[in-house]
Amino acid sequence: MHTHPEHPLLQSLVNTLRDITISPLTFRHTIHEITKILLYEAMRTFPMKPYTVMSWRGEQTIQRIDESEIMVVSVLRAALPMHDAVINTLTHSVSGFLGIKRDEVTHKSHLYYDRVGDCKGKTVILVDPMVATGGSLCDAIEVLEKKGADEILSLNIIASPEGLSVIEDMYPNVKIFIAQIDERLDENKFIIPGLGDAGDRAFNTL
Ligand code: PRP
Repeated sequence: MHTHPEHPLLQSLVNTLRDITISPLTFRHTIHEITKILLYEAMRTFPMKPYTVMSWRGEQTIQRIDESEIMVVSVLRAALPMHDAVINTLTHSVSGFLGIKRDEVTHKSHLYYDRVGDCKGKTVILVDPMVATGGSLCDAIEVLEKKGADEILSLNIIASPEGLSVIEDMYPNVKIFIAQIDERLDENKFIIPGLGDAGDRAFNTL
């Protein structure tokens, strides 16, 4: 299931990323801003719990999100600016990291690093800016489900229609929040029009 907020602010920020003359700093900053909007959408119906705090007028019961139930997982490496944006808002969440790389010839993804703890009782916020064939996201979801994630909310910036439908067919219970859906994949499985290599652009990798 996917949600695609068609807000002008969100669309404008995503289209800023299309300009290849922006600096890596602006690229990462824009990704931060986009991620905050996606997170806002994803957490719209998140339950709150009562907490008793010492307010300026004595004890008071307030409602808050229980962040200890939230795990933020990023797919290295292009998702790192998204990860940063989420944990700067959910400051008491726990984090996990998955290294998944697409083979340049076969275009198949493979998991090379898993630093994700037990997901039982957790809502996992999974971040990866690009969904091309959907292989990397499927690999990530498979790992998270095996580790017992209660619910998976996936924040993604650009997807191909092909990749999105692969994930929705395989994992209909995963809630995907996507900023823009592009036209198609090309013969090399790159998203068209896409952004280029988001990891390289974020970190100026040679
Ligand atoms: C990119 C991107 C996604 C994946 C999408 O990462 O960040 O994780 O490709 O492609 P898919 O949907 O076809 O699997 P990449 O494999 O280039 O890894 P990198 O960020 O380490 O370069």
